[in-house]
Amino acid sequence: YFDQCDSFWLFGYGSLIWKAGFAYLERRPASIFNWSRRFWHGSHDHRGTVQSPGRVVTLIKDEGARCDGMAYRITPAVLADLDIREKNGYLRELIPIYLSSQLSGAPSTQVSGLVYIATADSEAYLGEAPLLAIAQQIVQAKGPSGENRDYLLNLDNALRQLGMQDEHVSQLAAHVQQISE
Ligand code: BEZ
Repeated sequence: YFDQCDSFWLFGYGSLIWKAGFAYLERRPASIFNWSRRFWHGSHDHRGTVQSPGRVVTLIKDEGARCDGMAYRITPAVLADLDIREKNGYLRELIPIYLSSQLSGAPSTQVSGLVYIATADSEAYLGEAPLLAIAQQIVQAKGPSGENRDYLLNLDNALRQLGMQDEHVSQLAAHVQQISE
């Protein structure tokens, strides 16, 4: 599917929000529905190590929920590079993405697009844990891409700057800042 069109939309809900690192044709704040962002995926290659894995975001099915992020219109060539970068247990899914209108910011145009999701089937998956335990794990972990803490705080900042609310992320960020004080 993705090889057969000139361009398509990719929904970013994690590091892609603040750090694209690839060429895109267009970028719009966007939302998806019936999914929630959670720090339930493990990272032993970017924000942690095999001995001390970090925690990064994935999406979980959550009826009635809304997850805000950033959508990028990209070419199939860019996707080929991303698949290498994101190989830590994420799979591609095709889902409805609601692009925000430039004027009101409300989700308006619906497109079908790509998202990377890690499920419990992935070897690196960690799953649910108490927020404080997740925060403690994040504070301790660092990997080749940097400190796990910075991944969380960058995401929290980026969401704030976009006026997007995510309680899971903001509560974790508050815990991490408290622990580090
Ligand atoms: C994201 O920002 O949406 C993302 C980045 C890497 C893997 C999965 C998702």
